[in-house]
Amino acid sequence: AIDTRKLRAQSGVVTYDEGYGNTGSCESKITFIDGEKGILRYRGYPIEEIAENSNFVEAAYLTIYGELPKADELRNYSRRILRGASIHEGMKNLFNGFPTNAHPMVILSALLNTLGSYYPELATNDRQKDLDNFDDAAATLISKVRTVAAMSYRMKHGLPFIYPKPKLSYCANFLHMMFSEPYNDYVLHDDVVNALDLIFLLHADHEQNCSTSTVRMVASGGANLFASVSAGVCALWGPLHGGANMAVVKMLQDIHASGDDGTDFIEKAKTGETRLMGFGHRVYKNYDPRAKILGEAAERVFAALNINDPLLDIARRLETKAREDDYFVSRNLYPNVDFYSGIILQAIGLPLDMFTVIFAIGRMPGWIANWKELAESGARIHRPRQIYQGSTQRPYVKMEAR
Ligand code: ACO
Repeated sequence: AIDTRKLRAQSGVVTYDEGYGNTGSCESKITFIDGEKGILRYRGYPIEEIAENSNFVEAAYLTIYGELPKADELRNYSRRILRGASIHEGMKNLFNGFPTNAHPMVILSALLNTLGSYYPELATNDRQKDLDNFDDAAATLISKVRTVAAMSYRMKHGLPFIYPKPKLSYCANFLHMMFSEPYNDYVLHDDVVNALDLIFLLHADHEQNCSTSTVRMVASGGANLFASVSAGVCALWGPLHGGANMAVVKMLQDIHASGDDGTDFIEKAKTGETRLMGFGHRVYKNYDPRAKILGEAAERVFAALNINDPLLDIARRLETKAREDDYFVSRNLYPNVDFYSGIILQAIGLPLDMFTVIFAIGRMPGWIANWKELAESGARIHRPRQIYQGSTQRPYVKMEAR
């Protein structure tokens, strides 16, 4: 182990690593990534094996608690999550305060923070008390994030809120709260539920990405779990992070509308005029294993639902062209998880502005696990340094002399 005490005592030297590409900000036992080899493991288990054998609720338990649950542990945990979906009736009023065109990510970040105020004993900003009540806080967030997300969608479309049904599975209940009314028999189709579960599972954690680092940063100041994950939602919103799945579909729609088959777009991406959204990754320099799993899942979902979407054809063509083009090959630009998640979400009827919300629901276990790990480690407040590039000392200039 690293002797952090000794490191802390050293001062005076500041290393510069723009964007933290080569800086380890913490020690962690949650997720392992080898970007050169395209390896991702939650708590040591390969993502491919988890995707094949597990489900989102079990993956959440594994991510947060470090071990696969035994049968009774999983039963109790699932029951807790499935039964906890309702939110306080008072929270419904909060939705009325947002303009109807408010982005669901705005509502989500605001309401997750607010949720903590409905459970003051779980969100005290006293680290020991928050840790003592951690299990309740974590289950509350994992369960209710779906409800807030679905309600933000219903509000935006002027539709009445739909109450959760505790007997439905995690994903089925979310889809029910989103789409059950007006009646929609497509929504609880097994392939749709399973595809969404897979998307949640594949997003459950991804070590020190932008939003997870944000959660740790906020938590390092002693903020409670609700406030910390609310900050994570804001960090996730940007198009270079969680917003990329939305940007992928917009890009495919634009390519389709312009009559291009992807060839012109690839050329523009090479000159820097645009970016091939859903391609490239700070860590994966071989391939993103989640993209591989989702690419195959996309084929299955489209076949099962009998969907013939020209956007999937364009996506396949872009992938093939990029694989054969030296610009993309030499820069190690491969499809990332967002490339196929966007296409699947659009096929199963999720509106574009909910895509990043879906990512946030999926990433919740990772944010929670990282909050717990940081809080238990007793880490000191995070406070990076900078390389100052501004003016050297100069005398104050009075108004009349400016
Ligand atoms: N399309 C075209 N060129 C690209 C792309 C892309 N998607 N991504 C990177 N490049 C090029 C850059 O222009 C740069 O070229 P240069 O060396 O000639 O200047 C080179 O590849 C390196 O790119 P950086 O921006 O330095 O790579 P970085 O690691 O900082 O960025 C990122 C990674 C943000 C993911 C980037 O690849 C990108 O913008 N991709 C598109 C957005 C996206 O899909 N984001 C989702 C990320 S995954 C996630 O959050 C779950």
